Amino acid sequence: MRVVILFGSEMGTAELTAEAIADELATHDVSLYDMFDFHPADLDADDFHIVVCSTYGDGELPTGAEPFFKILDATAPDLTGLRFAVFGLGDIIYGDTFNRGGEICAEKLVARGAVQVGEHARHDSSTDIKPGEMAREWAATLPLHEPVGASA
Ligand SMILES: Cc1cc2nc3c(=O)[nH]c(=O)nc-3n(C[C@H](O)[C@H](O)[C@H](O)COP(=O)(O)O)c2cc1C
Repeated sequence: MRVVILFGSEMGTAELTAEAIADELATHDVSLYDMFDFHPADLDADDFHIVVCSTYGDGELPTGAEPFFKILDATAPDLTGLRFAVFGLGDIIYGDTFNRGGEICAEKLVARGAVQVGEHARHDSSTDIKPGEMAREWAATLPLHEPVGASA
């Protein structure tokens, strides 16, 4: 089983965080992509997907993640059976829009039939917690393999 890590980043923090996750999961077959370079048609339900995404504007996706989700919304692929986990990045000083980027990713994938698994992580850059360290610990908890007997 392949682990596909997709990151959406404006200033590079989510990219570095995605690299830390790839490093943590290095015993698996891991592929890492900027969402800007990844087409929704390449989503494969046989792969486990990890979305690492920051938040910009007023609770919006970073610019690099927008084309991916525009195409996803427009083509509306059936993602039934696709399992994914989200590590979001944001800053609590933005109040109501805290970590909306990762939440938007999850909502759009679930709307296509994908299933979110594991804890939805929300890094807060107002804290001293380093996103790479938090992400490594989080990645180690992910249920990468489907429980035996879970599929129909
Ligand atoms: C202009 C700007 C707008 C932002 N808007 C939000 C926001 O609405 N909600 C939030 O939680 N974080 C917001 N952030 C914080 C970033 O998401 C956070 O710093 C993140 O770690 C940046 O990751 P990146 O370097 O991968 O883009 C904003 C940051 C900037 C500079």
